Amino acid sequence: MGHRAAIVGAGHTRFGVLDAGPRDLLRAAVDGAFSSVDQGADRAAVGEAYLATLGFGGWQIGNASAVLTEEAGIPGVPTTRVENACASGGSAIRAAVRAIESGRRDLVLVAGLEKMTDVTNARRRYWLGVSGDTEWERLAGLTFAGVYGLIASRYLSEHGVSPDALAEVAVKNHENGALNPNAQFQKRVTRDDVRKAPRVADPLGLYDCCPVSDGAAALLLAAPDVAGTFTDTPVYIDGVGAGSDYLAVQERPDLTCFGATRWAADEAFHAAGWGRERVSFLEVHDCFTIAELLALEDLGFAKAGEAGAMTLEGTTRRTGRLPVNPDGGLKAKGHPIGATGVSQAYEVFLQLRGRAGPRQVPHPEYALTQNVGGAGATANVTLFSVG
Ligand code: COA
Repeated sequence: MGHRAAIVGAGHTRFGVLDAGPRDLLRAAVDGAFSSVDQGADRAAVGEAYLATLGFGGWQIGNASAVLTEEAGIPGVPTTRVENACASGGSAIRAAVRAIESGRRDLVLVAGLEKMTDVTNARRRYWLGVSGDTEWERLAGLTFAGVYGLIASRYLSEHGVSPDALAEVAVKNHENGALNPNAQFQKRVTRDDVRKAPRVADPLGLYDCCPVSDGAAALLLAAPDVAGTFTDTPVYIDGVGAGSDYLAVQERPDLTCFGATRWAADEAFHAAGWGRERVSFLEVHDCFTIAELLALEDLGFAKAGEAGAMTLEGTTRRTGRLPVNPDGGLKAKGHPIGATGVSQAYEVFLQLRGRAGPRQVPHPEYALTQNVGGAGATANVTLFSVG
């Protein structure tokens, strides 16, 4: 119960197909985090650091944590690489919160990074595939879009949901992304555009998929009792939760829900000591449009099969009762794998301080992030508050 850690600074690069290399991206995000601290933060005060990255693409640096040490200019600080597929960022935040909760660290740096576009398409498919099950999925030729396409087919037929619900997720997230200067795609799309786009893995088309992206994000987390020395408006982390499941979807009893998200959410809400009714907005892992519907249900904001109707009614739009992915989500903002979980918390930091500009959600006080690895194999849920 109570505040477990506080975000006092956050930095973010543009997401997209970028000329910058991984070191430049990391340095820019970390510098951004330090320079965002209202009352300043000394690099010498950092007690621990975590780097979330899959190590995708051409750079493939095995000892990536030392690259963070170098680019952040923090020699002497213990730095650890966290690799938990697309959930690496959320897992790194969780590790940082635990380091603070232990009482051993007052200031912890968390960075997330991926450079994905510096390799051929075949190599991209290889790197995306490494986070799936090898024996039953990858060697059978199933890509992530393929797995989520199967999940979407099953979900639509089991619950009698119209594909319009998937399209509406894309329309909404592109609308939000159009207001985010860091987003890979800053253009709106219509439901018709989504339905007529080239098929990737039926029923998912191009606009149902997140893109392949470069980018980095960074956070400075402080112990709650010292947060006031950095800023008058810290954003608190009140609960973290994590869950893991069988890697291959065929081993799980149900294709249309992710147990890992449910377990992570239960743990996070229990830790925070407050309930879902307080949540002002969500940042969820919409790697494919179907994933946003599953997230709403697994997190307990919609009953099974009802997230589609909720989306079509406009509840999850930025101006709706429960905004979801006001930054554009993975769909429009982009999904540089290791950076994504950290980027979600960056958005919460802006929104809860009322500094999100044209995409600001009206008066948010509590927020939730959900970051998923693989097709629901791992999940992190983090709960935030302000004031
Ligand atoms: N949404 C909207 N537009 C997209 C897009 C997406 N997800 N991906 C690519 N585009 C656009 C590009 O900007 C480009 O537009 P342009 O012609 O106007 O420049 C065009 O589509 C073609 O881009 P390209 O990069 O050649 O696409 P592609 O066919 O190689 O790849 C996907 C498209 C969907 C297959 C690819 O983005 C993908 O694999 N996404 C999923 C990534 C993933 O699995 N991540 C892990 C999740 S768990």
